[in-house]
Amino acid sequence: MLSKIKSLAETLAPRLIEIRRHLHAHPELSGQEHQTAAYVAGVLSSCGLRVREAVGKVGVVGELGGGSDPRLLAIRTDMDALPIQERTTLDYASRQSGVMHACGHDVHTTVGLGTAMVLAQLGEPLPGRVRFLFQPAEELAQGANWMVQDGVMDEVSAILSLHVYPSILAGKVGIRYGALTAAADDLEIVIIGESGHGARPHEAVDAIWIAAQVITTLQQAISRTQNPLRPVVLSIGKIEGGRAPNVIADRVTLLGTVRSLHPETREQLPDWIQQIVTGICQSYGASFEVNYRRGVPSVQNDLALTQILESAVAEAWGSDCIQMLLEPSLGAEDFSVYLDHAPGSMFRLGVGHLDKPNYPLHHPQFNVDESAILTGVVTMATAAYKYWQQQSSAHH
Ligand code: NI
Repeated sequence: MLSKIKSLAETLAPRLIEIRRHLHAHPELSGQEHQTAAYVAGVLSSCGLRVREAVGKVGVVGELGGGSDPRLLAIRTDMDALPIQERTTLDYASRQSGVMHACGHDVHTTVGLGTAMVLAQLGEPLPGRVRFLFQPAEELAQGANWMVQDGVMDEVSAILSLHVYPSILAGKVGIRYGALTAAADDLEIVIIGESGHGARPHEAVDAIWIAAQVITTLQQAISRTQNPLRPVVLSIGKIEGGRAPNVIADRVTLLGTVRSLHPETREQLPDWIQQIVTGICQSYGASFEVNYRRGVPSVQNDLALTQILESAVAEAWGSDCIQMLLEPSLGAEDFSVYLDHAPGSMFRLGVGHLDKPNYPLHHPQFNVDESAILTGVVTMATAAYKYWQQQSSAHH
């Protein structure tokens, strides 16, 4: 089966590169992936998949197979681009001013389509069912929620996904057990003091000074009260407050992001922040509001499914092509939203060039080595097959 998957994917490779270049030239922003979705639906239908459109607002779902194995495997890719002006010199650079596939979601979509094409053309019925999820709006961390609300995880027993990674060379695949990305939550703290003359601070409650205490104490408290082996990053990215140089500010708003890797740590963060802010504000007579808004959870790769991915890479490409990822990322990824409904694993697809500079994700000159598309498709299709094999043997 592996050699059949590989030869089919090799035959399809030139077509897949065409598809990727088309997507790259026509990027669309999060939630507006209308042309991309129509294109994806067209390719899936032409391969004989059962296709549903406008799932999760602009998403597309394609389904294939129906063998005796009751388990349903989902394969998720994302389709949105970023508000970045492309600065590459590629023939197929973005034709949409100010919009660019700078996070490689064009490659993800292509790998999803390629995997569907390969599995559809194998010439024999699949052991089980596979559902391809093409989601919108990953960059806003909303698309996965939209898809789940529309029921795409109903009956799903496992889910796989990928993200490109420019610091891994094309031809290699990054595998990680356990935490892959961080939980990303939003924090808003409003400090309400009392205005007064800048010359007479004792008659006022200075919200700016208290805000400074809050920021400093939060940073220090991370290092003194949080387990250093369970990282927490809290960054205040925006401060607003004050009226004039000689007027004591009565109101300051702090906006920030809170990143963590361990679900139990994350659980405690809202109360922990609330306590610190309460302590400081009460000492100095200010009132306050703390709004902690949960964003996406951390991606926790499932052990058994990560083993399947690892062995798929080893069998398809040799164990030299596996790059074990020693550290998680504190970036966020809304794949985690699906993992509340079924176990899953996401791999990092190397797209780095051997002989050219590799710009990071979200950079205006970001560019991939397209040979990685074949690596991604064969890895995903092989992993799908291995999933049904291992599951069914485990159940006999
Ligand atoms: Ni991305």
